Amino acid sequence: MIALRASNTHGGINSPTATHRAAPTPDLESPTKEINTTRRSVMNLFRLDGSFREEGSQSRAIADIVENQWTATGGGDVTRRHIGAEPIPSTYWAAAASFGYTPEEYRTELQHTAVALATELVDELVAADALLFAVPLYNFGVSQHFKAYIDLVLTEERMAPTAPGQILGGKPV
Ligand SMILES: Cc1cc2nc3c(=O)[nH]c(=O)nc-3n(C[C@H](O)[C@H](O)[C@H](O)COP(=O)(O)O)c2cc1C
Repeated sequence: MIALRASNTHGGINSPTATHRAAPTPDLESPTKEINTTRRSVMNLFRLDGSFREEGSQSRAIADIVENQWTATGGGDVTRRHIGAEPIPSTYWAAAASFGYTPEEYRTELQHTAVALATELVDELVAADALLFAVPLYNFGVSQHFKAYIDLVLTEERMAPTAPGQILGGKPV
């Protein structure tokens, strides 16, 4: 998996006094939805944005370039997930990871919700032909937002090492 990293300016451009350039408005049918899918044709792209910034985000700007190129060269649907703006709750990973070890009658609403989201996340990856991850570097690593996303994805049964097939195999990242 390759994460797009936009800048080595440690915190500087996140300063309240910094000038924030407005991100280009995506060409979407429903831009206010958390996850937007625009019907086009041919191959599908999944795009994840990890910055907590809506404006002035360098990683988003780079991902915009990639997405625009994707679209301009005949790319199909673009499915988005903004884990910076809409973080995965930190309680979901443990809830989903413990689901299989918990007798059905003792499973909590949180566990069911977490498993349902894990399924949704993996569905998004499976449905895509290419994956675009725009993930900033924070404090010498990825953000806890991205870690929470990856951890939850990996709880899903299709992502298990013993699961049949390689459901993400061959997808360009
Ligand atoms: C809290 C914080 C920690 C950061 N840590 C690092 C770091 O360890 N190494 C680095 O090269 N850049 C670091 N940066 C700089 C970000 O990677 C850079 O600002 C990037 O552009 C942020 O992504 P965005 O522009 O999409 O919001 C950090 C930025 C912030 C706000």
